[in-house]
Amino acid sequence: MRTNCCGEVDKKLIDKTVQLCGWVATCRDHGGVIFIDLRDRKGVCQVVVDPDTPEIFSIAEHMRTESVVWIEGIVRERPEGTINENLVSGAVEVLAKDLKLLNLADALPFQLTDAVNEDVRLRYRYLDLRRQELQKNIILRSRVVQQMREFLQNNEFLEIETPFLTRSTPEGARDYVVPSRVNTGQFFALPQSPQLFKQLLMIGGIEKYFQVVRCFRDEDLRADRQPEFTQLDIEVSFFTQEDFMQLMEAMVREVFSTHLGVSLPASLPVISYAESMRRFGTDRPDLRIPLELVDVGDLFVNTDFKVFASVANNEKGRITAMNIPKGGELSRKEIDEYTEFVGLYGAKGLAYIKVNDLSQGIDGLQSPIIKFFPDVALSVVERAKAKDGDLIFFGADHHSIVNQSLGALRVKIGKDLNLIKSDWEVLWVNDFPMFEVDDKTGEYSALHHPFTAPSGGLEELQNNPQILSQAYDMVINGYEVGGGSVRIHQPKMQFAVLEKLGINMEQAREEFGFLIDGLRYGAPPHCGMAFGIDRLIMLLAGAESIRDVIAFPKTQSATCLLTNAPATISDKQLRELHIKTILPKSVKQ
Ligand code: AMO
Ligand code: AMP
Repeated sequence: MRTNCCGEVDKKLIDKTVQLCGWVATCRDHGGVIFIDLRDRKGVCQVVVDPDTPEIFSIAEHMRTESVVWIEGIVRERPEGTINENLVSGAVEVLAKDLKLLNLADALPFQLTDAVNEDVRLRYRYLDLRRQELQKNIILRSRVVQQMREFLQNNEFLEIETPFLTRSTPEGARDYVVPSRVNTGQFFALPQSPQLFKQLLMIGGIEKYFQVVRCFRDEDLRADRQPEFTQLDIEVSFFTQEDFMQLMEAMVREVFSTHLGVSLPASLPVISYAESMRRFGTDRPDLRIPLELVDVGDLFVNTDFKVFASVANNEKGRITAMNIPKGGELSRKEIDEYTEFVGLYGAKGLAYIKVNDLSQGIDGLQSPIIKFFPDVALSVVERAKAKDGDLIFFGADHHSIVNQSLGALRVKIGKDLNLIKSDWEVLWVNDFPMFEVDDKTGEYSALHHPFTAPSGGLEELQNNPQILSQAYDMVINGYEVGGGSVRIHQPKMQFAVLEKLGINMEQAREEFGFLIDGLRYGAPPHCGMAFGIDRLIMLLAGAESIRDVIAFPKTQSATCLLTNAPATISDKQLRELHIKTILPKSVKQ
């Protein structure tokens, strides 16, 4: 239908006749001459409709934006002073000789150039998708996924599909379930990940597997979480953890170099979970921010400041200081706002010391609390490496509250005060604890998933609750973009781990007996990981939310505003499935 794309019409085509198709982005009547900005996926081209061609002029006069048209015309140079340097086609325009209205658009619910509420955008996603920014993201996504596929294919990986109608897979979220009509009263679960199947593929001798795969998790949603999302899921046999991590780094390095022009370091930094929690309060540290938490609990053990002394003397407590360079400039109001912010994470307060003039010793410090610990105040300042003009914030509480609140405060202040020192910080976090032990019940849960290998043998597993696992996460600018582990490949170890998790033999057989059976018949050592494609693309695209890199995303409340899903189904369907819904009173019948 067309000879060229709108966005590609340039000076080389001057005096040539072109045929273009696209959407009318704008249509302006300039005293007798009509200018149409015609848009397709490649960009915009200015089309001029002259009153000398009355048949097409009258069509243009009645044009509505976002209508679809075909034009034939001659490319000519734009008059001086009307050149648009920002467009490929900015130096030329097309004088229309013929114009066909292929489809007149109704008046739009919103203008594509307007800033509109996300709900409206999601309801009319097909219009939203016409915006350049979304198109850019969707194109980037397609290219990056293609590149990673090629990388893996070139390294002899096979792309293999695994079932969607399956059993529950233990990744820690709730399942989306699908009733089976044929097997009355029984349900499939949509996979939270292909974890078990990819391990079975290794047992099946596939050696190198990957899949670009949708995963389904019914969990609390956030800007970086969707109920269905895409993983690049990978598994290999006969690889050491180091070899595998290197291969994954090479893939990510290629993506960064091609799409961002950024060369990542030859070897990515690796920090342990323990170090990450200690220095940054989180296992996905944003290393672009040059702020760190420093432990000062030991200094408060014998002080009179009750709030801190009691935490310092509690085994589960943590007291940290975080120095903010030039933080002395923060106003009372700003400090109050940060205090409120840490409150969201359960912190009971946010003590601080302003360092005015260290040459005056303790008199050079300003703080509502140092009167309670005059003897150690200067040691605290020294340990936090604070200088004149700085401010030190404190967190004192159960370690998990301190980590969450000060970890989040670190990122917030880093962004608020423009402390971000680099564009990209990509790293691995490894040496995760194998188990999380509940303070109250003493119950064990898997920090990664129950198929992750511990860093020690059976004996250590039995005796050391703090045993580490062979799991690793890739973190980019404070986001966990991927995670994986070396897997357990021996049934004895698998049983021992499941037992620790309180899953008995019978239950294990019932839930994933097929995997345990498989491990008995010659399972090779294997490891793998999965990248969250949506998160990775969000970061590469500089988008705020993963919704901006997904063609048809769901809302924060897990609904699709475009199709109105989920929805009730007919009584006939329910009868066929032998399902009766019993709604709580709070839900309107
Ligand atoms: P994990 O649960 O860490 O590991 O998931 C891997 C990656 O998937 C992304 N991700 C999500 N993205 C968007 N929305 C969500 N709800 C969501 N949940 C997770 C994250 C995460 O790093 N089977 C293991 C992988 C393995 O061990 O090989 C797994 O699924 O970026
Ligand atoms: P209070 O004695 O409760 O008035 O607290 C004195 C100062 O310590 C105030 O600045 C509080 O914000 C701060 N503070 C109280 N509890 C904590 C805590 N758990 N962690 C950090 N600072 C705290």
